[in-house]
Amino acid sequence: MRIHCFSGNGNSAAVAASLGQLLHDESNDILWVFPVYAWGIPPVVVSRIKEMDLNGIRCHMVCTCGDETGNIDRQWHRLILSCGGVPGGIYSVQMPNTYVCLPFFNVDKPEIASQKLNASGQRIDTIAEWLSDRDFRTDLLRGSLPWFKTTVIYPWFCRFLTDSSKFHHTNSCTACGLCSKMCPCHNISTGPEGYPQWDNHCASCLRCYHICPRHAVAYGKRTAGKGQYLHPLFRKLFLISAK
Ligand SMILES: Cc1cc2nc3c(=O)[nH]c(=O)nc-3n(C[C@H](O)[C@H](O)[C@H](O)COP(=O)(O)O)c2cc1C
Ligand code: SF4
Ligand code: SF4
Repeated sequence: MRIHCFSGNGNSAAVAASLGQLLHDESNDILWVFPVYAWGIPPVVVSRIKEMDLNGIRCHMVCTCGDETGNIDRQWHRLILSCGGVPGGIYSVQMPNTYVCLPFFNVDKPEIASQKLNASGQRIDTIAEWLSDRDFRTDLLRGSLPWFKTTVIYPWFCRFLTDSSKFHHTNSCTACGLCSKMCPCHNISTGPEGYPQWDNHCASCLRCYHICPRHAVAYGKRTAGKGQYLHPLFRKLFLISAK
């Protein structure tokens, strides 16, 4: 089984790495691991999958979510069938929240984040067992009003809340260049004095916001006073050397 992963802040990368160690499956199946965005599949993941010819390949998904997934499985079925694939197992793992760009959304308090990380190990073991047993069930933390959230809010998010022109650096920025170097979409260039400038092909992953050592990345006024979070293994997973 091949594993493909998209991860902004390390949660999905850590889950994918654990599953990679636990699974010893020789099949031609593909497993995608990615975060939930607005109760749906991140648009960047949709685009990458649409570029592939899945031609009868069984495709499983594990999504990581701060709280709930909505009806992400319905999107997955439609997407995989439209690319010629066969939908397989669909599972979620609750992990610390990374979304901070709307009022009332913030990272988890440290004790909640620790609880989620501690519980995730058992959950990943269970998903690995299901996949190894070829038990391709759908097992998601759907939450309340899943139809409304995935069918109404997700398209609204894609249309109005993925605008990277709202990103800017605050006066605390030291022009260290880390946000630019680590953007998975190469969406941040540095001007003549080294300060970051955001382009318009952003995946909304918020890595630039969470990784800044000076907490100097802002999204409009909505991130003022919000916290930062990276998975504890982020630096190891993304090979950043300590400074
Ligand atoms: C743009 C965006 C939208 C999000 N939407 C949701 C959501 O609808 N439901 C949820 O439970 N978590 C949501 N989250 C939180 C992430 O899905 C969750 O923290 C995930 O584990 C992050 O994975 P990563 O570290 O691999 O990027 C969102 C995060 C971002 C950045
Ligand atoms: S990571 Fe932070 S301090 Fe470094 S260039 Fe980006 S915004 Fe500035
Ligand atoms: S600009 Fe920031 S939010 Fe957008 S893809 Fe790059 S790191 Fe992610």
